[in-house]
This record gives sequence, C-alpha cells and structure tokens, in this order.
Amino acid sequence: MVLPAATGAPPRPDITLRFSHVVAEETPKGLAANRFKVLVEQRSGGRIGVQVYPNAQLYGDDDEMQALQMGAVDLVAPSLSKFGRIGLPEFEMFGLPFLFDDLSAVRRITLGPLGQKLMQGLPRQGLVGLGFFDNGFKQMSANRPLLEPKDFAGLRMRVQASFVIAAQMRALGAKPVTLAFSETRRALAAGVVDGTENPVSNFWTQNMHEVQSDLSLTEHGYLGYAVVTNQRFWQHLQPDDRAMINQALQESLAFANTIADAQNDQALQALRQAGTTRIHSLSTGQRARLRQAVEPVQQQLASRIAPRWMSDLKQALRKA
Ligand code: LMR
Repeated sequence: MVLPAATGAPPRPDITLRFSHVVAEETPKGLAANRFKVLVEQRSGGRIGVQVYPNAQLYGDDDEMQALQMGAVDLVAPSLSKFGRIGLPEFEMFGLPFLFDDLSAVRRITLGPLGQKLMQGLPRQGLVGLGFFDNGFKQMSANRPLLEPKDFAGLRMRVQASFVIAAQMRALGAKPVTLAFSETRRALAAGVVDGTENPVSNFWTQNMHEVQSDLSLTEHGYLGYAVVTNQRFWQHLQPDDRAMINQALQESLAFANTIADAQNDQALQALRQAGTTRIHSLSTGQRARLRQAVEPVQQQLASRIAPRWMSDLKQALRKA
C-alpha cells in the first residue's frame, strides 16, 4: 500500500532499492541504472522506489562489494575484472587482452552455459548474479602515442583491481598502478600515473581528455559488467516483486547493450571535436605486436584458476 503523503508530495515508496555504481550517468551503465529506476517505479506504481548513486557518490571500487555483502546497498554492477578481489578470479577471463574479436564472441560466454557457471560462484560470497552487460572495448591513453610495446616502457599505468590487467601492463613493459576509478582523473592530473585504459565513454565522461594528450585506439580488451545483489535481500523480496524487479533489470541490461556502442561512438566523436587529445589508429602490424607482447597473460591467468575454466572458455569461443 502506498502511503498518501501529507504534504501533497508523491507518496513515499514502501521499499527503496539502492543501486550504487562508479561511473557517470551518461554511460552505458549509468543509463541502464536510470532506465531500471524508471521501469521499477512505473510498474510498482511508486510502491517500490529506486535510488541510484552514480559516480561513486555512495560507494566506490574499494568498498562497493563489501557494502553489498553487508546489505548497505542492494545492487551494484562492477566491472567483471574486479571480481577476482572477492575470491572469484575466474571472472577475470573477460579482461584477457585480445581475447574477444567482437561482442558476439562475448555473448558466447555471457549468454551461454559458461556465463551461468560463472554466476553460480556468487552465492559463495552471499551474492546473486542478475545479468551481464557491456560497456565495450578499451583504448590506451597517456601523454604519448601507445602504438608499439616499446611505447609503454616505464609508464605508470592506472589499472582496475585486476590480476589480469596488471599482468597485461607488465607484459607491455609498463608499471601497473591499482587505483579506484573515481581517483583516476585526479591521479592523471597530478602525474601520479602516466596513463590508463578505458572505453571511450569512460575516458570522455571522466574528462580524462583534459589530462591525456594521446588516445590510441588499441581495442585491446573488453570491459563488461555483472549486476549483483545481496542474496538475503533478494530472497526476502515478495516473489511477485522479485519477478517484476528482475524483468525490469533484464530489459534495462538489454537496453544498455543496444546503446553501448553508440555511447562509445558519441564519446569518440565529442573527443575529436574537443581537439584536446590526439587520436591514433593502429596498423595491423602494430596491433599484432601488442597482441604478441601480452600473450603470456593467458597462461598466467590459467595458473590461477581451475583448468576447467580455461577449457570451458576455449570451448565457448570456438565459433558455433
Ligand atoms: C574502471 O574501473 O576502469 C571501470 O571498471 C569503471 C566502470 O565501472 O566502467
């Protein structure tokens, strides 16, 4: 029952879902979270509210998962590369450099049995995985072009809290520096780090173009997300509410996947128009040499996770 508000303001919801994330609203994840809010509040007639906390306003990389496990928030959507830090290193397969040629290859995992197997590990951490969705492919940035492995020599490169991405930077001759996403723009401006990697939508919406003179369109790795909720919270919802919330979320993730490419393309267009940052394309040979330099990373991940994960991954990626 929605309680009538005394002041004529909209009625207060019976429950409010708290959705925390670390990126700007004008990104695939930000737009998905906002779409989810609209759908849940519309379909519940206001009985269920959604409060979105973008830009790490409430919790950031270093505490959002713990906050979820403690029930301080109800939904987060971290990068898949960040699940290693909560004891699920198999999720780091998504961050392997040059693993996916395109998003259809990603779908062979996220929409197939391997994606389901990955999600089955979350209850061990008191969490429930509700769905995968995209941002896109990452590009390298610094204050020099990054076209060949030698260009990375000695650079301090900000990375997500990820074994695979740190190994990727070391294989390129750079020094990985793990920082929260919300700290990255400040660290680049202060010279604490020299460069980083992002899909262009994150690079642009965090204004990294103001402190990075060169963006190299390496397309070297995938950035995607999983929406996770707290298991106790999810199990205590009324079954009809849970079904409606899940349906609204699935529709929001499908929406995000349809606009993610466009979001990254629009950000690249805006970056070109801003003229602050030189944008470099790579030759086939340059990309091949980067791919060759990071080949050891796959074996390094394989030594950290059960062998079946890598065999399942190879199986999933074989073209149907
Ligand atoms: C990053 O930390 O670079 C990304 O995972 C941020 C995000 O959530 O897209």
